[in-house]
Amino acid sequence: MKSFIISLFTLLIVSSGCITQVETIPTLEFASQQLELLIAESDANLDAENRSNRGRLIAPRTVEGGELHFVHSGDWTSGFFPGVLWQMYELTGEEKWAESAKTYTSLVEREKRNGRTHDMGFKVYCSFGQGYRLTKDMDYRDVIIESANTLITRFNPTIGAIRSWDHNTDKWEHPVIIDNMMNLELLFRATQETGDSTYYNIAVSHANTTLREHFREDNSSYHVIDFYPETGEVRKRNTHQGYAHESAWARGQAWGLYGFTMSYRFTQDPAYLEQAQKIAAFILTHPNMPDDLVPYWDFNAPDIPNEARDVSAATIISSALFELSSMIEGEQATYYENVANKILANIDAKYRSDIGDNFGFLLDHSTGNHPKDSEVDVPINYADYYYLEAFSRSLGN
Ligand code: GLY
Repeated sequence: MKSFIISLFTLLIVSSGCITQVETIPTLEFASQQLELLIAESDANLDAENRSNRGRLIAPRTVEGGELHFVHSGDWTSGFFPGVLWQMYELTGEEKWAESAKTYTSLVEREKRNGRTHDMGFKVYCSFGQGYRLTKDMDYRDVIIESANTLITRFNPTIGAIRSWDHNTDKWEHPVIIDNMMNLELLFRATQETGDSTYYNIAVSHANTTLREHFREDNSSYHVIDFYPETGEVRKRNTHQGYAHESAWARGQAWGLYGFTMSYRFTQDPAYLEQAQKIAAFILTHPNMPDDLVPYWDFNAPDIPNEARDVSAATIISSALFELSSMIEGEQATYYENVANKILANIDAKYRSDIGDNFGFLLDHSTGNHPKDSEVDVPINYADYYYLEAFSRSLGN
């Protein structure tokens, strides 16, 4: 409730030490105005795709070079736009958001049989999972279970982990990326729905392998751990989207924090809670963390402070900290909640799109893949998704 009150009036920006009054409009009013625009753009895209019989590009992902980019259902981010719309339905209770959410969710359904990637949780859980949580539509439940069945085909029991990618086979044999922790929610939910512990056991095995192999002494995590499929031993410790193999890619740290916090919610394993707190400490006490708590794209990027920020990492961290604060008691819980609120307040003050800009995306200044010079300092759909989730959690949802 606290952050709602903050965003309802004006923001007092504390990061610079002095207090500056910045006019903002309330989060829901802002999000409604922007998303009306993004829906109009996306509906027009669907019409054009249907008219041309392509029917391929379904969901808005980003803006680059002044152009709105749409992705096909197989893209790892295809579920975030429907997920944003479901969250708007939950936050406002307005049917119009559910109507659009249903349209864009249905376009992701074909992914339930796509076993060529680990991104099932991102694609299906953020769309169908949110839709099922809010509507209890049994068809949505079926898609979740079928998707979980597809995802577990990528599990290697010798390694104890789900294979993330099939690309770069010249470099990696069984790559497991820290991001993959996020796909476990789909598996935990599948067990809750079916009573079949297979999904739960695979999720726990994956989390345990990640806990054992991905983290350094300082509790930062590698991005990619590659394993020998026959023995389960580690082949390589690499990065893909970070600055260097030994650096701390910001969004990777955010995925780890969120992933272990969420895994503790389902398992109550204290090792996961402890790891989440260690990751939080790494992130929040890092000397290269800016005062406004919106990280540079990599904590070890070479030209800090002249490096791009990653607002998406900040939104994931904020959302995770709200959940983490609810799992413990005392001063530490208050600290996490205060930090989560401060991140949201700073994002509202400095990183929102101007009304009517960025084709309706909510936030600017995320970084997707800096080493490839792709999506640097741009709006990205997953930043908007976790921003709304963090906002919703700030209200106690
Ligand atoms: N899962 C890919 C990313 O975070 O960019």
